[in-house]
Amino acid sequence: MKIAGKPLRIAVALLACLALAGLSALALSAQEGSRPLNPSFVDKADSPSGLKWIAGNRGSPYMHPGMSCITCHNASGGEAPSYLSAGTVYTKLNEADNILGVEGAVVQITDAKGQIFKMTTNKAGNFFLRAGGASLALPINALVSFKGAERKMLGAKQSGNCMLCHTASGVGGAPGRIIVP
Ligand code: HEC
Ligand code: HEC
Repeated sequence: MKIAGKPLRIAVALLACLALAGLSALALSAQEGSRPLNPSFVDKADSPSGLKWIAGNRGSPYMHPGMSCITCHNASGGEAPSYLSAGTVYTKLNEADNILGVEGAVVQITDAKGQIFKMTTNKAGNFFLRAGGASLALPINALVSFKGAERKMLGAKQSGNCMLCHTASGVGGAPGRIIVP
């Protein structure tokens, strides 16, 4: 039994590892994509989405729409993921922080090396690109597409932290929020 037991135990351990790897891949895609939006994290708002985030710094892909994910995550560290680019897409240029945006818009970034990254906005209108070893060569160009139409940023910019400039009133010449075409 002892002689047969060892390879068996190794096989069981290997299977367990594979199962765990599969599960964590599933967990990750659920986390980034279709994780349900906890109804107690939002409240009604007088806006096109009809919702605002009220759960403060509760970690979630739907948290703090309109605010700078990257600036806060870099400062808070810990469990807050590190992003190369992130932000929120709206239908109104002057939408306030924490108001949820538009789902299903595609934000495309082309960096200085010609690398193309695509992000799709979630139920909060939020989009984000995990650092995960990759890096953005600055400056970057950006383009938003929605229902077959496009809206392009004319000049290349020195940061993937879109909400630095795309605040409700607009900083550095930005017209306000990033909005769908
Ligand atoms: C004011 C600060 C702040 C802002 C702004 C912010 N976050 Fe976070 N975020 C945090 C903190 C703090 C954590 C870690 C929370 C924890 O450990 O529970 C976190 C964690 C997360 C997590 C991991 C939690 C999980 O369960 O997966 C995701 C995803 C996330 N943030 C997405 C975003 C996105 C997208 C934006 C921008 C639209 C954003 N955050 C804006 C502070 C912020
Ligand atoms: C350093 C400030 C800054 C950053 C960072 C920035 N933008 Fe912009 N954005 C601007 C300015 C200024 C304009 C208006 C002039 C232009 O189009 O270049 C603009 C315009 C746009 C437009 C076109 C708006 C219109 O009315 O047609 C889109 C779309 C856009 N930005 C998306 C993005 C996205 C997506 C990101 C992040 C990947 C981003 N921007 C990062 C400053 C910025």
